[in-house]
Amino acid sequence: MIYLHSLGVFTAVVTLLTIFLLLAEKYLADYGICEVSINSGERIFEIDGGGTLLSALSENEIFIPSACGGKGTCGYCKLAILSGGGQVLPTERPYLSRREIRSNLRLACQVKVKEELELHIPEELLNVKLYKSEVSSSRDLTYDIKEVCFSLLEPNQITFRSGQYAQVLAPGPDGEVFRAYSISSPINVSDSVELNVRLIPGGIASTYLHKLKVGDPVTFTGPFGEWRLSEDPESELICVGGGVGMAPMKSIVYSLYHRWPQRVCWFFFGCRGTDDIFYLDEFRELQAKHPNFHLYYALSDMKRGQEWDGEKGFIHLAVDKYLEPGTKRQAFLCGPPLMIEAVTAILHEKGLSNAEIFYDKFD
Ligand SMILES: Cc1cc2nc3c(=O)[nH]c(=O)nc-3n(C[C@H](O)[C@H](O)[C@H](O)COP(=O)(O)OP(=O)(O)OC[C@H]3O[C@@H](n4cnc5c(N)ncnc54)[C@H](O)[C@@H]3O)c2cc1C
Ligand code: FES
Repeated sequence: MIYLHSLGVFTAVVTLLTIFLLLAEKYLADYGICEVSINSGERIFEIDGGGTLLSALSENEIFIPSACGGKGTCGYCKLAILSGGGQVLPTERPYLSRREIRSNLRLACQVKVKEELELHIPEELLNVKLYKSEVSSSRDLTYDIKEVCFSLLEPNQITFRSGQYAQVLAPGPDGEVFRAYSISSPINVSDSVELNVRLIPGGIASTYLHKLKVGDPVTFTGPFGEWRLSEDPESELICVGGGVGMAPMKSIVYSLYHRWPQRVCWFFFGCRGTDDIFYLDEFRELQAKHPNFHLYYALSDMKRGQEWDGEKGFIHLAVDKYLEPGTKRQAFLCGPPLMIEAVTAILHEKGLSNAEIFYDKFD
């Protein structure tokens, strides 16, 4: 009992001390004006010290991937701080390998600007733009997934690679937040952007996107993401998705057949029941025009009364069943972490190396 009481007092004192230090830093610390120099002075700006590096960059229209909206939980906002920035913080360590720490990588959302900073930011990220758009259509794909299309206003064109994502700005209770959504439209469409959004109950951005009506304004940044399709027409593509992991796959498949009508593509899509199926008719239509497009939907958890004569079981079983080992291939996976792990193991057995497998894990 005495032990529990002492522990309670200790926790309360530490909490009060932490709050005091945070308030003191916020209201008393004055770091003055700090200069931020990017890529050996290619871009230089000055800001009031004290805020996060991620916000400082965003205020200066430099948009770094920040899928969790700066909460320090996605590890996407890595960039190299060549001088300034202080020690790596405990909140950054889970997301940085030893090699990345040695290369001066840091999480921009965790680093406070307190002194002059020298940064290295890849050129591709310096070209990311903020887009103003308006909703051109919104329709239900399933009971919890909507397809939302934005028509671009300013700038009115976007260039992106299949598999890249946009970060939508959504109003939240404590201010605006960014959230990542993969672009589902093909790369040959440059005046609009299409997303597939699953509603997360209580979720800030997914609720906002589900409630949008035609004509509503939407702001987003992009494009972000590292996926690169092989330009070799002989290289086969394997796409495996589950749930809203459909979005980048749809972009890849339609972009591919727009450019290379003969190319071989294997598309595997995992659903629970028949009410989770979407885009199947559209893909069957595409398959009728492109015989090298191999399409498999698999249902893992059918409810009583549901009928289905396609693949049954988890999607990695269909990948194992239909894919022969041996050909020159690249694989793109998007969906829940367990699905990605199971499919990756099968792809290794079929002879693909890690360098040939690209993935985005999200539930
Ligand atoms: C690279 C990338 C691409 C993405 N692409 C897509 C996409 O194409 N379509 C899409 O719908 N989403 C996509 N996401 C997920 C998306 O970015 C958001 O995380 C998701 O929409 C939830 O945001 P929210 O603001 O609605 O929820 P939040 O307000 O962030 O969360 C509300 C609550 O829900 C919980 N939560 C958050 N996400 C989930 C989840 N998936 N399942 C269960 N609980 C959850 C949170 O922990 C919190 O408690 C992608 C994520 C990444 C990193
Ligand atoms: S923005 Fe997600 S960890 Fe920094």
